[in-house]
Amino acid sequence: MARLLLVSNRLPVTVKAEKDSVSVVRSAGGLATGLSRPHERSGGLWIGWPGDVSRLTDAQRSQVEQQLSDLRCVPLYLSASEVSRFYEGYSNRVLWPLCHYMLDRVPRQDRDWDAYRKANERFADLAAKHYQPGDTIWVHDYQLMLVPGMLRQRLPHARIGYFHHIPFPSSEIFSTLPRRGELLRGLLGADLIGFHAVSYVRHFSGTLLRHLGLDTDIDRVLFQGREVRVGAFPMGIDATAFETLAGEPGVLDEVKTLHERAHGERLLVGIDRLDYTKGIPRRLLAVQRVLERDPSLRGRLRFIQVAVPSRTQVQAYAEYRETVDEIVGRINGLYGTVHSTPVHYLYRSLNEKQLVSLYRGADVMLVTPVRDGMNLVAKEFCAARPDEDGVLVLSEFAGAAAEMRDALLVNPYDVEGMADAIEQALEMPKAERQDRMRCLRAGVRTRDVHWWVASFLDRLQGLPSVAEKPPLP
Ligand code: F6P
Repeated sequence: MARLLLVSNRLPVTVKAEKDSVSVVRSAGGLATGLSRPHERSGGLWIGWPGDVSRLTDAQRSQVEQQLSDLRCVPLYLSASEVSRFYEGYSNRVLWPLCHYMLDRVPRQDRDWDAYRKANERFADLAAKHYQPGDTIWVHDYQLMLVPGMLRQRLPHARIGYFHHIPFPSSEIFSTLPRRGELLRGLLGADLIGFHAVSYVRHFSGTLLRHLGLDTDIDRVLFQGREVRVGAFPMGIDATAFETLAGEPGVLDEVKTLHERAHGERLLVGIDRLDYTKGIPRRLLAVQRVLERDPSLRGRLRFIQVAVPSRTQVQAYAEYRETVDEIVGRINGLYGTVHSTPVHYLYRSLNEKQLVSLYRGADVMLVTPVRDGMNLVAKEFCAARPDEDGVLVLSEFAGAAAEMRDALLVNPYDVEGMADAIEQALEMPKAERQDRMRCLRAGVRTRDVHWWVASFLDRLQGLPSVAEKPPLP
């Protein structure tokens, strides 16, 4: 098995500092779980940012280095200015809203491009330093779009893959980026470029034709004498782990408590990072409409919305938080009674057991982002329902919608339509709920995260290496 060199903005770890000691804990996220086996088995390395370690003492820092090295992780420390200009700046103030079709959120001036380019160079340099002939390099996500091209310059014969974890927008949108050409050429340094959905592949191909005059032939495009492959590889989750956790006595007890304390209220659940792409305000308004339309549901319906703090230093996120706080307050003020609160809002992160208890206890799961690359919450919810019950209401603008056709698909911009879907979900007969959930679960189980990793890597490693390729006519 070829050694795997993984490169992502964040390492799959969390550094936890206590009084005198410090510990490095593996993250439970999808990417970390899916890649941990091939990463370990191949004896490879994972290169990335371990998060903010600026407050650590020298002794703590060396403990972190040791623990990271035991996990085969190579840290790339970002300076405060890189965090603010590369990570929060170009990655999250420009590329993030743009790829999610939110042009009005992109700053008027493109001030952080040089910081983005320089940080990408640092990642490429570090990866090239650790590269050994025969390695497979796999670069992840929009923070590192220039890295494949930079690596190709440094390592012309390397096997390089890139996966884009967020939407790739239509060429009309991508074209507005002043640096569109550099970013496209950066991606084309890879041998294989993967997206979550076929529509993103189409958008990317259209953009290549429009800006670089490159014509994609089904799944390949010729660039600077090399063949670059492009494909859709929908990411999955560790379905078995969620299913097992959902059957644990601790989780079942928690679900029981949740139901007992709900006193017969039907439970709607939403779980998201607090991000303006997640569609939380319109989702709340849809719940409000349900309560307005059907007064008999007041006091009999509770919406639990978990919003995990994210990118808190970016102003747009702070403003979004205020909007959400305000709407929650308004609905509770209007429809709460001394005995019941319609929206139960938690601004914090929950551990896996708490999340799975909510998945398992929900009557209806609301996953209604206005735009989302994939959305793994939708898949986690289904995996956590071995009872084959619960209804998934899913945005048609989440990548997951292309696979999860048995969900109730909604337009997240249509508040009335979402209110209709919530009512339909609440009234759905058990047999229909089970039929739908059975189909959804089958898909989630078959196309899990291990399938995703294997299909991308098999494809990448099955390509003829650059040295082996016959010369082009
Ligand atoms: O969905 C894109 C993504 O970068 C994920 O990989 C990550 O889990 C999430 O957004 C949060 O990103 P971060 O906290 O690193 O900005």
